[in-house]
Amino acid sequence: MPTTLQQAPQTVHALAAQLAEGLIGHERLIERLLIALLAGGHVLIEGAPGLAKTRAVKHLAAAIEGSFARVQCTPDLMPSDVTGTPVFRPKEGLFEFVAGPIFHNIVLMDEINRAPPKVQSVMLEAMAEGQVTVANVTRRLPSPFIVVATQNPIEHEGTFPLPEAQLDRFLLHVALELPDAKTERKILDLVEAETREPEPNQRPMVMATLQDARQAAMRTHLAPELRDYIVRLVTATRRDAPESYSDLTSDIEHPVSPRGSLALASAAKARAFLHGRDHALPEDVMDLAPDALAHRLVLSWRAVADGRKSRELIADLLARVEPL
Ligand SMILES: Nc1ncnc2c1ncn2[C@@H]1O[C@H](COP(=O)(O)OP(=O)(O)OP(=O)(O)O)[C@@H](O)[C@H]1O
Ligand SMILES: [Mg+2]
Repeated sequence: MPTTLQQAPQTVHALAAQLAEGLIGHERLIERLLIALLAGGHVLIEGAPGLAKTRAVKHLAAAIEGSFARVQCTPDLMPSDVTGTPVFRPKEGLFEFVAGPIFHNIVLMDEINRAPPKVQSVMLEAMAEGQVTVANVTRRLPSPFIVVATQNPIEHEGTFPLPEAQLDRFLLHVALELPDAKTERKILDLVEAETREPEPNQRPMVMATLQDARQAAMRTHLAPELRDYIVRLVTATRRDAPESYSDLTSDIEHPVSPRGSLALASAAKARAFLHGRDHALPEDVMDLAPDALAHRLVLSWRAVADGRKSRELIADLLARVEPL
């Protein structure tokens, strides 16, 4: 094994530590972003305004040697604003494709639920297949290609709720909470200090190192027993689940798809790797199940009316399904 592969966990650890310095109290979010980076998935971040969602993604992009673009989603956003478009060059007498913001390693889609359905369908192809089709020409996106989308939970007029197929394409869904008083004070101190002295320029992680780390992370051992555990969790959301789960399945309109099991498996491997292990444990699966599965469930209207939440349902499931 090349030395870079053996060093991969340390370099990723250093990256996590570097990010934690600029994102107070966001260890969980940082871990999720790094898991997505290692597993090659997309992240949907949900939280009230001002919780440093944009800052987190900007810091992540700055910490790796990747290209970064940001798209502010509005109801009048057009697919070509995201993908780019062929532009006619009269001198040469031909069309030249001018690439849009999607052709970057990390793409921040701010307030994705404000983007109209046509833009969301472009995102579907990009996120699942790593390619976009413009004017009948299919173009590959760079690797890694990671969409970090933010969504504001406060419902405003002019939002388009993400379709299930779109939600299913996010590896993880992270919900952010407001900070406590102590954390809030630390944020104040940090931002205050930054206004006096700009942040020191850290050396970004080179792409080759990141690619090595991704390879090493995905080689993490996932025992057959853990695979069975993941399958038991996911299939317990389906109609043909054992009778003992019928009180849960009756709350579910659309269960978790196989993409959910795959997401949970690769995220668990990446988490194990981040924790310095060469094998995943049940705790990796348990810790990630709500973020990897809850957004893929659609509850029945009755369950929603009763105030049931997908995350609670996954928590119930975790309490009932035996890990081994
Ligand atoms: N946990 C934190 N660590 C460091 N800075 C923070 C933290 N929380 C908030 N801030 C600061 O608060 C401000 C708002 O952050 P940011 O713009 O990233 O929020 P946001 O979640 O993207 O908000 P919006 O939903 O309105 O786009 C920034 O100046 C940021 O530095
Ligand atoms: Mg923002």
